[in-house]
Amino acid sequence: MNSGKRDEHLQVYDTDEKLVEALAEHIYDLSKLALETRGQFTVSLSGGSTPKVLYEYLADAYAKKMSWGSILWFLGDERCVPHTSEESNYRMIDQALFSKAPVPRSNVFATEGQDTDPKASASHYEALMRQVVPSRSNEIPCFDLILLGLGPDGHTASLFPGSAALKEQDRCFVANWVEKFNAHRLTTTYPVLNNARNVIFLASGKGKAQILNEVLNSPDAGYPAQKVQPTPGRLQWFVDKAAVELLNTASSTR
Ligand code: 6PG
Repeated sequence: MNSGKRDEHLQVYDTDEKLVEALAEHIYDLSKLALETRGQFTVSLSGGSTPKVLYEYLADAYAKKMSWGSILWFLGDERCVPHTSEESNYRMIDQALFSKAPVPRSNVFATEGQDTDPKASASHYEALMRQVVPSRSNEIPCFDLILLGLGPDGHTASLFPGSAALKEQDRCFVANWVEKFNAHRLTTTYPVLNNARNVIFLASGKGKAQILNEVLNSPDAGYPAQKVQPTPGRLQWFVDKAAVELLNTASSTR
């Protein structure tokens, strides 16, 4: 990402609360645009801990505003554990959002069998994604919105440094062996990430300052998150001041 474009792509907020409120409103705006133009809003959600407050806020503050019946929800990645496990991304999102907002269960597309047969589960989920999410002319599903997080090693979704899925150029969703966990993770691949209309990274807190500075200021560092470059879609970073404290340029805060 070159710094010249950074201001347009980097939305900095004074606090995590203001960040969540602004991002929720932006997601609501994107949903209205998608519904006006395509009659539905397709979303791939990030796991991890950061977005939990965003999902809870959306479920509460937008319970009556959002057109929940026209939004289709996918998972950007999943751990290979039962959905009842505390590690499950689906469990976190279900508790924070799907079970709290008037989300039709038929609009939620979760992985199946990820804990028993990761490769088969990924193949099934890819087929589901291709069936449900309209594709661009390149025949790759085109999400209206993909929400991503940023790990301390520069991973995003479950695209970890040195993992095989970084090289995947054909499949949309794969089982990816992650050495440091000695386990598979299921993840969306770059062909889909870079095909979306809107990709938004959410990063907050001091703990993200170091990696965020490197990802934004060392474009050749080779972090997996840096290879998310949607074309012709739009890439944005929604961050708080704590996460940009190491960035070596003044950034406008809101
Ligand atoms: C996951 C996520 C992962 C996450 C980053 C950041 O399954 O863990 O999809 O990519 O977004 O690891 O995680 P935190 O939000 O917990 O810092």
